[in-house]
Amino acid sequence: MNPDWAAFRALFPTLQHKAYLASGSYGLLGAPVAAAIHQYMDDRLEKGADWGGWVGKADAVRDGMAALLNTGPDEIAVTTSASAGINALASALDFSGPRNKVVVSNFEFPTGAQIWHAQERRGAVVEHVPEAPDGGVPLEHFERAIDERTKIVQVTHVCYRNGQRLDVAGVAKIARERGALVLLDCFQSVGAMDIDVKVLGVDFAVGGMLKYLLGTAGIGFLYVDRGHIEGLIPTVGGWFAQADTNAMDIFANDPAPTAARFQSGTPPVMNCYAAEAGIGLIRQLGVPAIEARIREITGEAMDRLTDTSCQLATSRDNAQRGPQVAIRSTDAAALTERLAERGVITSWRDGNVRAMFHAYNDASDVGALIDGLMANRELLA
Ligand SMILES: Cc1ncc(COP(=O)(O)O)c(C=O)c1O
Repeated sequence: MNPDWAAFRALFPTLQHKAYLASGSYGLLGAPVAAAIHQYMDDRLEKGADWGGWVGKADAVRDGMAALLNTGPDEIAVTTSASAGINALASALDFSGPRNKVVVSNFEFPTGAQIWHAQERRGAVVEHVPEAPDGGVPLEHFERAIDERTKIVQVTHVCYRNGQRLDVAGVAKIARERGALVLLDCFQSVGAMDIDVKVLGVDFAVGGMLKYLLGTAGIGFLYVDRGHIEGLIPTVGGWFAQADTNAMDIFANDPAPTAARFQSGTPPVMNCYAAEAGIGLIRQLGVPAIEARIREITGEAMDRLTDTSCQLATSRDNAQRGPQVAIRSTDAAALTERLAERGVITSWRDGNVRAMFHAYNDASDVGALIDGLMANRELLA
């Protein structure tokens, strides 16, 4: 049965007064997520401390992420950000031998390139994969960069700057043939697009819960394929990364036998409440239904934008895009501000106004966006 999208929309009070199109920046706060945050406060006021319950919340988030990505819970680390997950992973890799190359696409979010450049002090050599003039990063460019010296490839699913989707499965296939690992950054797609890490063939995946997963900032995840866990020992760790958190052993580091070894300290408890509720909302609707709904709305938006002569940085091809529609502007910061004055909330990067849709958006939001852009035509490229 098709989900009741109007009922879903009604869970987000902000939509009563704003055309909110910035979910790839920060997802809206839904009523069930607000209730979960209140629940955290109620539990604190009532119980004081509840370590067992708090660890249970982190485990509920782990279970939810495992279900969304088609992994086992033992393959998920609950972290405080995507950056924390990448750092823990990087710390476990050895760059001292001949296989010391890190390949990163030019479509990565800065954190995913900066952390790998930080490994240069440990012997890593970073090679960037450039985009093509048509605005994508074709597989041939990855073919050229990935070789027998490549340790790991970082590839984003959907580019945060222009909404272009990369061929992750294609990159993973090339990497596998050449003995390299693959880290997928799915922050701009998880919750909005169906992701099966096993089908994609990636070794690791990172993201967080504040965007399309409808949770909050300060919580993220790292997926680690079960086959790699034993051989990777992070040097960025802590007591919540141990085999037994309660062992309190100060004479040894005893990493968890699961992906929990990529965690560090006390879980972000309040954020776990919010993330559990956000993931719950997504799972209730089902990601395939959400993805189809977003594809429909973004498709309608792109067709109408093209009809009104807007130039798009995002491909119209469904296989090359996700939930973001990037519109070229001569002054994206000013245009974003003008739209915000009309209650149309977007964000901008790289000369583009980014309209980032979730399943709670509808045709009225598309209409408000088009009206806002038409009223500011002089700022369109
Ligand atoms: C694609 C992508 N990767 C990584 C990040 C950064 O994540 P964090 O701040 O959790 O480290 C973002 C944040 O916007 C992002 O969009």
